[in-house]
Amino acid sequence: MTAVSQSVSLEVEDGIAVITIDNPPVNALSSHVRDGIADGVEQAIADDSVTAIVLICAGRTFIAGADITEFGGASKGRSLPETQATMENSPKPIVAAIHGTALGGGLETAMAAHYRVAIDSAEFGLPEVKLGLLPGAGGTQRLPRVTGVQKALEMMTSGDRIGADEALECGLINEIVDDLKAGAMAFARKAVDEGWPLVKIRDFDEKLQAAKDDPEIFTRFRAKTARKTRGFLAPEYNIQCIEAAVNMPFDEGIKFERERFTELMNGTQSAAQRYYFFAERQAAKIPDVPKDTPQIEINTAGIIGAGTMGGGIAMNFANVGIPVIIVDRDQASLDKGLGVVRKNYERSVKSGRLTMEDVDARMALISGATSREALADVDIVIEAVFEFMDLKKEIFADLDRICKPGALLASNTSALDVNEIASATSRPESVIGMHFFSPANVMKLLENVRGDATSDTVIATAMAVGKRIGKIPALVGVCQGFVGNRILAQRRIEADNMALEGAPPAMIDDVLYDFGFPMGPFAMSDLAGLDIGWDPEKSTGSTVKELINESGRHGQKNGRGYYTYDPETRAKTPDPEVVAMIKAFGESKGVEQREFTEEIILDRCLLPMVNEGAKILEEGIAIRPSDIDVIWINGYGWPVYTGGPMFWADTVGLDVVVEKIKHYSAMLGGRHWELSPLLERLAAEGKTFQSMGS
Ligand code: 3HC
Ligand code: NAI
Repeated sequence: MTAVSQSVSLEVEDGIAVITIDNPPVNALSSHVRDGIADGVEQAIADDSVTAIVLICAGRTFIAGADITEFGGASKGRSLPETQATMENSPKPIVAAIHGTALGGGLETAMAAHYRVAIDSAEFGLPEVKLGLLPGAGGTQRLPRVTGVQKALEMMTSGDRIGADEALECGLINEIVDDLKAGAMAFARKAVDEGWPLVKIRDFDEKLQAAKDDPEIFTRFRAKTARKTRGFLAPEYNIQCIEAAVNMPFDEGIKFERERFTELMNGTQSAAQRYYFFAERQAAKIPDVPKDTPQIEINTAGIIGAGTMGGGIAMNFANVGIPVIIVDRDQASLDKGLGVVRKNYERSVKSGRLTMEDVDARMALISGATSREALADVDIVIEAVFEFMDLKKEIFADLDRICKPGALLASNTSALDVNEIASATSRPESVIGMHFFSPANVMKLLENVRGDATSDTVIATAMAVGKRIGKIPALVGVCQGFVGNRILAQRRIEADNMALEGAPPAMIDDVLYDFGFPMGPFAMSDLAGLDIGWDPEKSTGSTVKELINESGRHGQKNGRGYYTYDPETRAKTPDPEVVAMIKAFGESKGVEQREFTEEIILDRCLLPMVNEGAKILEEGIAIRPSDIDVIWINGYGWPVYTGGPMFWADTVGLDVVVEKIKHYSAMLGGRHWELSPLLERLAAEGKTFQSMGS
């Protein structure tokens, strides 16, 4: 084997040159990989003993894309299009041999080969859209030529991967092989022996014809995906590039792709989304918990409480094949909870995401019990009963008696003190908060809450099991509301204050919706139910909440809340009576009425969140600013294309943020406007949250 570059080697076996890329962890296309491939191909072309070339990767995957860490830096060595041109123009057939994930620039490299083979577990995708980008090395022009326009639109605007079977069916690969290297070499030999042509995808035209005949395909696709892609630039640019593939010759399409790619790469959305990519991975790393910390082996799980959260949490475990026992206080509550779980699964059958067999297999993994003794042997217990400290402590004292030594004992409390819960046991080191978000089977965020005594093993296990059940875990410390809800509370205070000062709730909601949130705080309250925590017996019209409930408005559930809801379509219309009611209440309390602009509303909603985030960092409740961003993006719908509250504040400029907070603080007062010393210091030093590192 000859080394061609630091990560690429070449070996000639039976007249076939095997070019192997070995650039751990994911064989990203660093400059030495791009150079290595091109040099390897040139050497193989020059070697008369070589008849064909196989491009293969060592390690866990085929090339997973461009090296994202190189983005924004000076370009080094050959560009990817140059490397691709060397491959595509090779007079000897090149076969890409694919395992793991061929993603982004990786798939684009494979599409510059003349043929592609893969093992059946391989996956293929162009996920650039998730980084706020589009495939910038011909992918937008080649993929539709191979798969047809509809599939290319779906793959490129979602970034989702397809499996080997689907790739074979749509022509993206030529064959599925059992043994990758041997299979690819046999394929290459056959290509030589049988004189197959040197196929260049750039010359394909056939599969574009359907879209030429039906140009409305793009209008329909835009309409269908509008809701999902709202606010994002990249999906639209991906679509435009596919249109270019249909309407322009290949080389012009490539030029169009390059212009659009450069624009996205230089824009703030992609900067935010690339930041987020690394933030999500960083959140998994806990500085004082070494990577090799021993973990509890999780083979079985127990949940206490079959309600809204317990049922959803149980589904997460069943979804990945971990048997789970749900305990509730009586058979009726248990049956009700299990019924909801089944219904949720059946909804997935209706939408085509699961088969009935999948549902049966998952339900078979979920069993119910009314006695906590059933949890004696499970490896992890997650408590999700009512939010009462006394009840949680009673349960944890019981779990201490029942559960086997070393079992992980978690509470899904949304705000209670995890240390106090742990104090009910003789093993506080085994206790941790695992705060899921509703609906727990859907929402990605998992806030793991470390108590004072929580052991490294328990922390490492909670982080790992979170990832295993498909969540994005972030580790936080104990405080009221932890990170997410503590910050949410600040936004709520200001939203309510503004409503009392005369800003219509719908105007506040609209500003946040336009910023990119799925909904604003008032629409969210209507969805959750306005009567949560409202007691009709004790209600005396002394708060806005009491007034609204007393007027018979309980939110979406009865069609009236801050908005009125169409019984058929659930479309919402602002309710002028509510606006007047809140305004009158504010005036009766002597609240000064003000004029509002979109900018003021946005400032007053978002700046207290940033300020609170900074306080959370000062107190060491969050490990790093980017963890706060991960929490807000995955738990509360903060638009990823602005990077989360802390990244967003950096883009606004911390000096501007501080100046505005001082302004509002002087005007309005309130604890949430008290400037965080950390924020003040960073701004004074001309620094950013990102400069704090991680
Ligand atoms: N560049 C640089 N580093 C990368 C990388 C990339 N493309 N992809 C992954 N990594 C790093 C991760 O940051 C992580 O580093 P860490 O261990 O220091 O935290 C490490 O590789 C392992 O990654 P994961 O933890 O994500 O490992 P998984 O096994 O869970 O997932 C994966 C592997 C599916 C390949 C996933 O990493 C992934 O989706 N990567 C990004 C793929 C992508 O977006 N490709 C397109 C890039 S843009 C492009 O190609 C532009 C082109 O069109 C010109
Ligand atoms: P829920 O009211 O839907 O369910 C609670 C379940 O616990 C019920 O099935 C009830 O019968 C059961 N239960 C009560 N006492 C019990 C006992 N002694 N033994 C066994 N089971 C008992 O409540 P929900 O919404 O699921 O909340 C559960 C926990 O999750 C709470 O701590 C809540 O703060 C937290 N949480 C809730 C979120 C939400 O959006 N609903 C979000 C995140 C956390």
